[in-house]
Formats: sequence, structure tokens, C-alpha cells
Amino acid sequence: MAGFLPLALIAILCVEPVVGVRSHGEWANRRVLNSLASEDLVTNLPGQPVVDFRHYAGYVMVNESNGRALFYWFYEATTLPDDKPLVLWLNGGPGCSSVGYGATQEIGPFIVDINGQGLKFNPHSWNREANMLFLESPVGVGFSYSNTTTDYKKLGDDFTANDAYDFLHNWFLKFPSYRKRVFYIAGESYAGKYVPVLAELIYDKNKDPSLYINLKGILLGNPETSDAEDWMGLVDYAWSHAVISEETHKIIQRTCDFKSNDTWSNKECSGAVDEVLDQYKQIDIYSLYTSVCISNATGSDDNSMRIMFQRTPKMMPRIMGGTYDPCLDQYAKAFYNRPDVQKALHVSDGYQLKNWSICNMDIFNNWTYSKPSVLPIYKKLIAAGLRIWVYSGDTDGRVPVLSTGYSLSSLGLPITRAWRPWYHQKEVSGWFQEYKGLTFATFRGAGHAVPIFKPSNSLALFTSFLLGESLPLQR
Ligand SMILES: *[C@@H]1O[C@H](CO)[C@@H](O)[C@H](O)[C@H]1NC(C)=O
Ligand SMILES: *[C@@H]1O[C@H](CO)[C@@H](O)[C@H](O)[C@H]1NC(C)=O
Ligand SMILES: *[C@@H]1O[C@H](CO)[C@@H](O)[C@H](O)[C@H]1NC(C)=O
Ligand SMILES: *[C@@H]1O[C@H](CO)[C@@H](O)[C@H](O)[C@H]1NC(C)=O
Ligand SMILES: *[C@@H]1O[C@H](CO)[C@@H](O)[C@H](O)[C@H]1NC(C)=O
Ligand SMILES: *[C@@H]1O[C@H](CO)[C@@H](O)[C@H](O)[C@H]1NC(C)=O
Repeated sequence: MAGFLPLALIAILCVEPVVGVRSHGEWANRRVLNSLASEDLVTNLPGQPVVDFRHYAGYVMVNESNGRALFYWFYEATTLPDDKPLVLWLNGGPGCSSVGYGATQEIGPFIVDINGQGLKFNPHSWNREANMLFLESPVGVGFSYSNTTTDYKKLGDDFTANDAYDFLHNWFLKFPSYRKRVFYIAGESYAGKYVPVLAELIYDKNKDPSLYINLKGILLGNPETSDAEDWMGLVDYAWSHAVISEETHKIIQRTCDFKSNDTWSNKECSGAVDEVLDQYKQIDIYSLYTSVCISNATGSDDNSMRIMFQRTPKMMPRIMGGTYDPCLDQYAKAFYNRPDVQKALHVSDGYQLKNWSICNMDIFNNWTYSKPSVLPIYKKLIAAGLRIWVYSGDTDGRVPVLSTGYSLSSLGLPITRAWRPWYHQKEVSGWFQEYKGLTFATFRGAGHAVPIFKPSNSLALFTSFLLGESLPLQR
């Protein structure tokens, strides 16, 4: 089994946990707490390393008449939380959990440990730099739910953004000290659609001063952005990384019109693209050069290893935007279905359990509306002066660096600092280019969920983003 442990996991297992000295109770009294928030304070999460920051989890009602509630997990910054910004993190899918991926595999302070037995401290957690809010969105994802089953038939990009927007306002009622805080939204994969759509909604609603949210920018990792460019990048990357043959690539070039709304009615094109996806089934599309998890688990809901894609005559097929290590997914599932864990996170009473899974395939399969491109929203947000940074792990085949490059170059923004390396710990961490209004950075040797592969480098980029400073230009 050990032979199949992913490198990133080994790295996480080897770091010394930082053990705090204070008890949770002492810190809970540090400031007078808002009573609504204090109900959500997490005090006895099983297997949690001792830390000296507070964290909260629970539900926020988003639609009372239909009974919709979204689950969040919020980690205060490790130091000086009152002085640090608030960052909302979203994972994609659609249908995948920000708790299962973002919080416990990527950038949260507690990384789920092997076999769901407990949690490991993550010294590169992004809550070192910001107050981090993880949201399971939309309803049907993770612990989030609706009491009105017909809601699940309506899920799409706009529905998701509207509920996330209502969530924020109701969350601020629980946490009023964050109401006017500098605010950013970050996310990866299909959240490449969620994040700009939500940012645009906030920007539009901000015209009403009573609804003002202090949004300053967005940060996107390997984001789905524009279907046409995303597909062109996917097939070109597969070809340029020797996943498919010259012949297959030539057929795609000759027969596929990714800008058409009817790409797949061309049988030659769809056959050649199927060949790309077939080749990717043999390896991990999210991380080309690491091994796949050979797990003992069998069963129908072990979806993470397979490439999921949906193709209707008109729509662009969607491929599941998950993460790179299906073993970690299984550990997360074991952990979050524990009665004591659900009780500690205020999800259930510990008897009537919620059924948690990392991705909900029904949501993925029944997604009603996906914006073909969010590039027009980029333009609007850039004009509004919001900070936009896009990063890309360059060993991801799912939303490859080429897709992002094609999308960004189609914006035609003036280049203010040309392509060059950026450094971390004396090494080239990747390359970056600054445009007027947007920064694009790559991570050398990282897969789809970049922070799993490059935890320290990711935290460095996050820090630069928050400061609005260029990435380190020198060793
Ligand atoms: C609740 O959700 C339903 C269905 O999405 C919608 O029709 C209704 O307007 C929502 N209610 C409120 C108060 O937002
Ligand atoms: C959903 O229904 C259950 C059972 O009636 C109730 O306890 C819960 O509060 C409802 N949830 C929401 C968000 O209204
Ligand atoms: C697809 O494009 C054609 C021509 O541009 C247009 O007439 C048609 O309405 C479009 N179909 C859909 C489903 O958007
Ligand atoms: C897989 O099965 C083998 C043999 O039954 C066992 O030793 C190992 O611990 C199992 N691994 C996991 C991850 O469950
Ligand atoms: C949870 O869902 C799985 C399928 O994903 C199903 O097999 C299982 O019975 C469900 N458990 C409960 C308690 O509903
Ligand atoms: C969603 O799609 C699945 C097929 O993946 C189907 O079985 C299910 O009934 C659909 N659910 C809803 C609520 O439409």
C-alpha cells in the first residue's frame, strides 16, 4: 500500500504537527462572542490537533420557505484574525464539496488522515494569512440540503450564486464583525464558473449600500473558464504531453469546431475526443505524472477515479472536476460519516446521520445551466478594479495550463510584465505574466488541486495575492 501513497501525502505526514498549548475553552473566552456564532463554535472535533485559533461549523438558512440550508466551516486566522481579510473558498464539480477537498485536502488547517481516523495539522494552511470560510454549495453537496426535493432539479450556475449570495448575508448576521471586512473569493476547477458569477452578483447588488459587501478580488486555480478554449487546451495538452497520437490530434484539428454550439454532432470529432478521454482513463487526468490510487474499495459511489463526462447534443460535455487522489477522497468519506464528527460539526445529533459524500453525481448529471464562458464577467470585474489572479498547476490534464492561456489571451489585455519565472525557496516555482487588471501564474509540477502538490508555494502565492504584490522575481 505504501508504494501507492502519493508524494504530497507523504510530505504532509512527515511534517511535525504544531501543538498549541492552550485549551480550546480558554480561547473561546478570548473575546465576547456573538451568541449566534458561539452555537457553531467547534470544541470537540475527534482527532483534531490542538490549535490556538477558533473554528466554527454549522448551517446557514438560505431559503426559509423551501427549507434550504448551506453548511459552512470557518477557520479564524491563526494570528490577529481581526486584522486579516475574509476569504470564501469554493470547490467545483459541479456537485463536489469544499469541505472534502478545499478544507481537508488542500488549504485548511486540518488534513484528513489515512482511513478517516483523524486529522493532521497543515502548517501551510491558508488561515495563516486570512480568515477562511469553506462553503458546501449548492444544496445537495456534502451536508448542504433542501427540504424541497424539486429544488435539486433547478440547480445551475445562477441558482448556486443566488444561494451563495444569500448565505453570505445570513452568515454576516452570525459573524457581524466580518460584515465590512475586506473580502475575497477563491476557488478551483468548476468554481472557475462559480466564483466570477458570484463576484458579479455581489458587484451588481453593491449598488444598494445596505447590501454592500467589501469584495476586493478573486483568485482562481485551474479554473473552467470558457468551454471552447477549455476544450482546445485539453486536446492540445493531451497531444503535447504524448497522451494521444499525432493522427488523433490531426482529426480533432480538422473536424472539431469547439466554438460551435453543436460540436459533438460531428462524429469524427466526437470519436477523436472520446479517444482522448479513453487514454486519460488509464492515468490520472488531474495529475499526469503521479500514480493512481489502487484502493480496496469497490462499489458504485467510488466515482473519483473515473472521468465523468456528460454530453448532450448541444451542450459541451462536462468532465468531473475532482482532485488527484481518490484514496484521500475515501478517507474524507469515512471521516465525515462518523457520528461523533457530525455531532461536533453541528450537522446532526449523532444519531440521525447525514449521508456525506465528496461529490454528488446526481447534481453533476442534472446540472441545468452552465455558462459557456465567464470571460465577459472577467472584463466587467477588471473594469470595476477588482483584483483577479489565475493560477494553474502545469501537470493537470483536466483544465490544463493551455486552456487557461488560450482564455486569458483571448481577452486581449495589455501585458504589463512579460512572462518570466517566479521563485519560491530558491527554485523556479512556475512562470507568470501580468496583464493590466489580471495576473496569471503557473505552478511547475503541480496537478489540478495545486495546494496538495505544492503546499508551501501555494501559500506564498496566496500571500502575494492578498498583498497585491508581484510574485517573487528573484531566488
Ligand atoms: C425560495 O426558493 C424558491 C425556489 O427557488 C423561490 O421561488 C423563492 O423566491 C425563494 N424565496 C426567497 C424568499 O428567496
Ligand atoms: C428541514 O426539515 C426538518 C424536519 O422538519 C427540520 O428540522 C429542518 O429545520 C428543516 N430545514 C430547513 C433548512 O428548513
Ligand atoms: C446554435 O447556433 C445557431 C447558429 O449560430 C443558432 O441558430 C441556434 O439557435 C443555436 N442553438 C442553441 C441551442 O443555442
Ligand atoms: C487493503 O487490503 C489489504 C489486504 O486485505 C489490507 O492489508 C490493507 O490494509 C487494505 N488497505 C486499505 C486502504 O484498506
Ligand atoms: C448513503 O449513500 C450510499 C450511496 O452513496 C448508500 O449506499 C447508503 O445506504 C446511504 N446511507 C444512508 C444512511 O442513507
Ligand atoms: C438526476 O440524474 C440521475 C441520473 O444520473 C437520475 O437518476 C435522477 O433521477 C435525477 N435526479 C433528479 C432530481 O432529477
